[in-house]
Amino acid sequence: MYPKMANCKTNRRVYVETYGCQMNLADSELVGGILAKEGYAFTSDLETADVALINTCAIRDNAERRIHGRLGLFNAQKRRNPDLVVGILGCMAERLREKFLDQENLVDIVVGPDEYRKLPSLIEHAAGGEKGIAVRLSRVETYDDIEPLRTEGVSAWVSVMRGCDKFCTFCVVPFTRGRERSRPFSTVVEEVRSLAEQGFKDVTLLGQNVNSYADGDHDFADLMRAVADVDRQLRIRFTTSHPQDMSDRLIEAISTTDNICKYIHLPVQSGSDRILTLMNRTYSVDGYLALVEKIRSAIPGVSLTTDTISGFPGETDEDHRLTLALMKAVKYDGAYTFKYSPRERTRAWEMGDIVADELKTARVGEILALQRDLSREINQQFVGRSERILVEGPSKKSAQEYTGRTDTNRTVVFPHVQEQPGEYITVKIARANSATLFGIRA
Ligand code: 5AD
Ligand code: SF4
Repeated sequence: MYPKMANCKTNRRVYVETYGCQMNLADSELVGGILAKEGYAFTSDLETADVALINTCAIRDNAERRIHGRLGLFNAQKRRNPDLVVGILGCMAERLREKFLDQENLVDIVVGPDEYRKLPSLIEHAAGGEKGIAVRLSRVETYDDIEPLRTEGVSAWVSVMRGCDKFCTFCVVPFTRGRERSRPFSTVVEEVRSLAEQGFKDVTLLGQNVNSYADGDHDFADLMRAVADVDRQLRIRFTTSHPQDMSDRLIEAISTTDNICKYIHLPVQSGSDRILTLMNRTYSVDGYLALVEKIRSAIPGVSLTTDTISGFPGETDEDHRLTLALMKAVKYDGAYTFKYSPRERTRAWEMGDIVADELKTARVGEILALQRDLSREINQQFVGRSERILVEGPSKKSAQEYTGRTDTNRTVVFPHVQEQPGEYITVKIARANSATLFGIRA
């Protein structure tokens, strides 16, 4: 996963496994940067590791059971190599520290998302037999001075803000990642400049609620314009945004800057006003549809995707029907569809009115089927068109085929001749299904 490091002071090799969202993947790159500076090397093979870390995500599903299973495997390795230091990082750290560290003795160190700077010393101490915990949240930590350890390639993430103050009632993020804080404007721009110089072609600005970014007088629209100005050959994207913070200034920046991708992930969560209020989402269905209208008229051809949650406490058949109706009205280009997972500490946890799991599954199934039809229909309209794509590399299915992406974030598969990752090419779309466009070099 990580490049091997020469010049290793400690001789220790670290294995990192990452779960969850892009923020978490970016955090693992930060952890890599912090440890690399101390001379650690990295391995993608657990059996050769001296330190095994698991970066956890607590947002949905039975993530805990999965992490438990992985830690079991790490401990089997620890029986073969008693010097192995095992640690959990990230969103689950605070809540599970007692269970995994004291009760079950599954880990040596537990480190929350704002305490990664302590990792080197915690690992040192753990190697000497001392268990360690660092799970405090910070109001200021942004790791602004840490250079993430990225794998080489076409695409890079830049984390520009951390935490979330929105407190949607279903979501554990404000509790596990803490309050919102933004990195300084100038260092983000400098980091993007350095990425462009290193040959990256596609940069995604990341934050749990990225469009509420603020540094002094600079808002997210200013930041997007400034990073887009760094290099016009660089594609700029962002995720993930809250409808409430989708400002006119940001819409204008996307519409008038050619290297800002015409793609917005705009999670709606539900199509029922009653549920949106219970979720504390701060917008109504009409307000959301008006925003979509405004975005579409300002940015012709823009691609819109969403997140939905099925089975929020008290969600009725009628609420679900309203979500399907909203999806048809918007005609999203894509949707991520989740079953509601109760999370301790959130307000929804207290709400009772539990929706049966089979019903959640059935509703998710209906949303997925609808979205598949919508995506197929939309993608069919691309057949015959020419699209400029950024080449990413070999496709998963065949070495003779490469993939690239359009400005609207559609994946295009095409026969490979001599195209190189990072190159822009034009392809003519020959056919399409709900997930992929298939093209030939124009
Ligand atoms: N249950 C299900 N989905 C959730 N999400 C966040 N919290 C929960 C939860 N408790 C989803 C939302 C959010 C996405 C990142 O994860 O749809 O937009
Ligand atoms: Fe969670 Fe809502 Fe914040 Fe997104 S905006 S991270 S769903 S609290």
